[in-house]
Amino acid sequence: MRVQNLSVTDFRNYGQASLTLDAGVTIFLGPNGQGKTNIVEAIHYLSSLSSHRISQDVALIKKGAEQGIIRANVVSADRSILLEVELNKSGRNRAQVNQNSARIRDFPRYFSAVLFAPEDLQLVRGEPELRRNFIDDIVVAFAPRMAGVYADYDRVIKQRNTLLKSLRAVSARARETSTLDLWDEKLVSLAVEITDMRIRLLERLAPLVVENYREIAGVDQHPNLQLKVSLYADNEQGTTLFAANTFAQDLTARIATSRANEIERGSSLFGPHRDDVVFELNDLPTKGYASHGETWSFVLALKLASAELLKVASPLGDPVIILDDVFAELDVARRKRLAQRIQSFEQCLITCAVAEDLPEAIDGQIFVVSAGTVVPA
Ligand SMILES: Nc1ncnc2c1ncn2[C@@H]1O[C@H](COP(=O)(O)OP(=O)(O)O)[C@@H](O)[C@H]1O
Ligand SMILES: [Mg+2]
Repeated sequence: MRVQNLSVTDFRNYGQASLTLDAGVTIFLGPNGQGKTNIVEAIHYLSSLSSHRISQDVALIKKGAEQGIIRANVVSADRSILLEVELNKSGRNRAQVNQNSARIRDFPRYFSAVLFAPEDLQLVRGEPELRRNFIDDIVVAFAPRMAGVYADYDRVIKQRNTLLKSLRAVSARARETSTLDLWDEKLVSLAVEITDMRIRLLERLAPLVVENYREIAGVDQHPNLQLKVSLYADNEQGTTLFAANTFAQDLTARIATSRANEIERGSSLFGPHRDDVVFELNDLPTKGYASHGETWSFVLALKLASAELLKVASPLGDPVIILDDVFAELDVARRKRLAQRIQSFEQCLITCAVAEDLPEAIDGQIFVVSAGTVVPA
């Protein structure tokens, strides 16, 4: 798929900008701090419903404005759809699909993009939440209804934690008559669905990561990725223990025996919100062991694998590939191999401060970005 038109109003450092994009490669060129990342961030927002740089939308709205707008025409196969998001400083964000009001969380049904950025190194080095979000975003791209399942699960955990905290001060009898059992059931049934989807996704992703790692790094270091299920975290075998039919029983039993501990801590100790994804190279965890270059290769392999999986299996076809300041971070060999790999996608959007950082093979439409304006070169 591809983005045909983009327009932003009071978004980041843009008052108003509109551009028409071709299929193939588009390069946004300009010195630092001019608004290159802001443009691709607007596009990526429509597929991820969040920014890769911040967790609060308020920074996306132009300083001094009350509201920012992102509007894009996206085309997949021969279907063209207009997506619009209104980011409001006070009050809820609003979304429209073809000018009818819609839920933002349904956007992954219409648009998918895969973003590569220097922040991605945190996928290997950072907290488990980043790895969970990475696989959950791909799960949702495949099965948009899962957005509702994740939202329900978050709500259950929040409400269950509130209840656990409130039970700290009450008698054992009052604890028994609480509604906690109902929340346990909800937690378990959503946990089964989420864990099952995550494991199935990782199984499909793994062979593509192996292939892309070999392509990008130029050597085979046996990359491996595996869900570390919190329920079995103290067990060496990790996920190999997971089977959908016993998982529900195991989780229910574990929650029952952890009752006092959970109330004491006022927190739900087991479930998908505590899982992690373990990445390995040559049987060693990448976190804490992989070199800078290996970490980059792993991250690129992960992202390429997710993009290729969407390309073959998503009803939307090719995701839009976005490379934000990535080439500058890579050595010449990796630049060249990455450039080869991304050119099979229908549309690639690349930001770059200096043209010399681009590999030779990259050629396409160029926009010059300068102080919140973006114009064709
Ligand atoms: N909400 C905002 N309102 C106004 N300016 C903003 C806002 N958010 C970011 N900026 C400005 O945008 C610029 C950074 O743009 P960015 O796209 O990250 O630059 P680059 O071209 O280096 O990728 C900075 O000057 C920053 O101050
Ligand atoms: Mg930038």
